[in-house]
Amino acid sequence: MTPDASPHITAGASPPAADIKAEKMLQPSQPQQPAPPPDTTASAPPSAASIVKQGPQVRLQALRAFYGSAEQVKGVDLEFPANKVTAIIGPSGCGKSTMVRCINRMHEEIPGARAEGKVLLDDIDLYDSSVDVIAVRRAIGMVFQKPNPFPTMSIYDNVASGLRLSGIGRGELRGKVESALRSAGLWEEVADRLSEPGMGLSGGQQQRLCIARSLAVDPEVLLMDEPCSALDPIATLKIEELIATLKQRVTIVIVTHNMQQAARVADRTAFMLSGEMVEVGPTQEIFTTPNDPRTEEYVTGKFG
Ligand SMILES: Nc1ncnc2c1ncn2[C@@H]1O[C@H](COP(=O)(O)OP(=O)(O)OP(=O)(O)O)[C@@H](O)[C@H]1O
Ligand SMILES: [Mg+2]
Repeated sequence: MTPDASPHITAGASPPAADIKAEKMLQPSQPQQPAPPPDTTASAPPSAASIVKQGPQVRLQALRAFYGSAEQVKGVDLEFPANKVTAIIGPSGCGKSTMVRCINRMHEEIPGARAEGKVLLDDIDLYDSSVDVIAVRRAIGMVFQKPNPFPTMSIYDNVASGLRLSGIGRGELRGKVESALRSAGLWEEVADRLSEPGMGLSGGQQQRLCIARSLAVDPEVLLMDEPCSALDPIATLKIEELIATLKQRVTIVIVTHNMQQAARVADRTAFMLSGEMVEVGPTQEIFTTPNDPRTEEYVTGKFG
């Protein structure tokens, strides 16, 4: 692809937090350290958590994704409004995970895979050559279907890992770990066992640990690819409640096969089919009065 020569950064004496964060994307990569997962994120001004933004925060423009010569995302235009939850629905294999992985540039990590088009975070083109891909993955955290705590690390170290890479002092570290665990609704359950292995937690707790790991370094966006599909109904409910709270500080994209879940958590829902975006709109409308007959067939269970 041919990215813009210079991503737009808002100038001015006191730029809003989003622009301060965006500038970080243009700084050189940090030295390579033991592979952090992509769902770690950068530190940010403490005030960022309380900033509620308006308008689209992530925009996909003519996004195409390939595995070798096979095009699996076929020119998607889509906006993810700030501080809203957008659900991505569609039958298995339609390209939901692929599209979501393009948002934080994880798609390109797959051998032979590439993307074309634009992904904008605020005004920054994340595929611009001047953008630091590691910073992108810090600003846009990701939570996967199967909880993936670092297997050899304690609960504490799982959450602290991304922060340590950003060079934070030990004193501050503890407070941030606690705060992330609280934000993920896990603190009460693990406060007295922080040094125990993360893998010793239940599946639902592990998933919240992974969410805490993402939140620890204050991402702007959280991508969740079927985050509840391996969880029981109680654990699922906890994650859904968490999503409702977290959207006050992050923009959330959630892939789900569960229509009820989309109806419960998502402000907007986007329906994909065969690599194309069929339609997107307020969740209620997508489920009750969709524009496209294919959407209606899918949401009423006629296929998929
Ligand atoms: N690593 C890969 N190499 C080659 N093709 C892939 C790869 N990953 C996915 N695909 C193909 O890309 C298409 C979209 O896959 P993707 O995983 O994005 O679908 P999905 O909508 O997330 O499906 P599901 O609901 O089953 O998770 C599928 O045809 C799939 O086989
Ligand atoms: Mg998938």
